[in-house]
Amino acid sequence: MATEDIPVIAVDGPGGAGKGTVCQALAAQLDWHLLDSGALYRLVALDAMRAGIDLDDEAGVTQRAQRLDVVFATDGRISLAGDDVSEAIRSEGCSQGASRVAALPAVRTALIDRQRAFCRPPGLVADGRDMGSVVFPGARLKVFLTASVEERARRRYKQLKDKGIDVSLARLSEELGERDRRDAARAVAPLKAAPDAWHLDTTGLSIDAVVAQVMSWAVTAFPELNLPGKGME
Ligand code: DC
Repeated sequence: MATEDIPVIAVDGPGGAGKGTVCQALAAQLDWHLLDSGALYRLVALDAMRAGIDLDDEAGVTQRAQRLDVVFATDGRISLAGDDVSEAIRSEGCSQGASRVAALPAVRTALIDRQRAFCRPPGLVADGRDMGSVVFPGARLKVFLTASVEERARRRYKQLKDKGIDVSLARLSEELGERDRRDAARAVAPLKAAPDAWHLDTTGLSIDAVVAQVMSWAVTAFPELNLPGKGME
């Protein structure tokens, strides 16, 4: 199958809009591959921090990003240079670090081929900020998920609380706002919906409702696949 014929669903939007959970559910339902591109930026940040490289040192961070020794296991675990970092990359330090390295143009370029390599039959669900606009501009279904900053902070708060991590809701909301501003203001691939993306505000919607909506768009976007019509009525 030629790469351009491989079906791709590009899902973009700000942090906490539900992309991660929704993309996992979509990939599982469709039995397609999953690209968590945010994890790659988190890995670059963690790797640079561990190597003692300043996150503003574009050449230094890029050099390491080009050689990043990462394994995405089929069970969802992620390892960096043989070390399981699945939890470590979700820390607030890595969130902020990822947002900083993601603003470096050479780092973004260094990660493009690595991201495109995830596009393999039978299909790909790609989760990120620039999936539809830069990495997979030919994706036949582009989705832009949003939610209010308060709702996104509440979701993150609950996730952390469930993991036994104590944080302040106000602080999370502030940090999310700060990341949003940095992600939207950067010169290269800022967070912005592709012109042909379908928008969905997930505030107040359950994960199942969001997945059902995207599946119903997928039924229309990929008619030749005869996907089961699981859309919302
Ligand atoms: O989705 P996430 O929270 O794991 O992403 C971590 C950071 O990486 C976030 O601040 C934005 C950045 N990012 C990006 O710039 N481009 C992507 N395709 C994915 C994430």
